[in-house]
Amino acid sequence: MKIVVIGGSGLIGSKVVSKLSALGHEVIAASPNSGVNTITGEGLAQVLIGTDVVVDVANSPSFEDKAVLEFFETSGRNLLAAEAVAGVKHHVALSVVGTDRLAESGYFRGKIAQEKLIKASPISYTIVHSTQFFEFLGGIAQSGTQGDTVHLSPAFVQPISSEDVAAAVADATLGAPINGTVEIAGPEKIRLSDLVQRYLTEMNDPRKVVSDVHARYFGAELTDEMLVPGENPIIGAIDFETWFTSQKKATV
Ligand SMILES: NC(=O)c1ccc[n+]([C@@H]2O[C@H](COP(=O)([O-])OP(=O)(O)OC[C@H]3O[C@@H](n4cnc5c(N)ncnc54)[C@H](OP(=O)(O)O)[C@@H]3O)[C@@H](O)[C@H]2O)c1
Repeated sequence: MKIVVIGGSGLIGSKVVSKLSALGHEVIAASPNSGVNTITGEGLAQVLIGTDVVVDVANSPSFEDKAVLEFFETSGRNLLAAEAVAGVKHHVALSVVGTDRLAESGYFRGKIAQEKLIKASPISYTIVHSTQFFEFLGGIAQSGTQGDTVHLSPAFVQPISSEDVAAAVADATLGAPINGTVEIAGPEKIRLSDLVQRYLTEMNDPRKVVSDVHARYFGAELTDEMLVPGENPIIGAIDFETWFTSQKKATV
């Protein structure tokens, strides 16, 4: 198959490209750095010629409310229109578990808009909903930092490694479109504030996490179950300890 991975240079995209290429498919890593831009349309029509499946794992360069919404709306609209012209048979997109419950957040309003465009388009699709990546824990800590403390909700999360996410996205890409959403999560359910404290301690980061039920997660106040999957998610194999140990080894 010819597969175009939009955001193919990113954390998840680069892993998806490697996995699918290793199986012998013709895989193109597409992103602004390689001349394909879903916002300006540059290179889009050309790269999609003869493409069977498009995988969209791009992300907004800015997390500011208005910028995120504009990114996912414009990118989704341009990409799906170009796919329709090229006769693409399957659109696979990566989004976040609980997106539909998180409209209070500017970032998630962007993801809701992206998913709405996919569902309204005539192209068959599979949306993969993932929980938070272990690799994103530093970003979550940063988002809640006030001086020496980090204010975070104690809501439950079930974080996952980018490796397991990429494997699930690759599987969805090679499977038939489900015209629906599949959920993936890590093996352990833990409170967000506890998880980030564990991460900071392991990193020898002196910041202390303050658990606060009203602390907002990228603009949204959370209830316990908002970020965790429903029934029968795909469960990744890598837990926090295994992931952290492998990260440490990779940087030594
Ligand atoms: N972080 C989490 O915990 C989490 C959880 C669940 C789902 N997700 C979703 O996972 C997806 C991928 O995240 P990630 O962390 O892998 O992203 P990332 O590492 O930040 O990579 C973003 C990618 O998007 C590309 N991109 C940016 N602007 C573009 C444009 N105008 N046209 C085409 N490509 C563009 C970038 O290309 P350049 O390198 O050329 O700039 C890069 O390849 C996102 O949609 C996010 O919502 C994230």
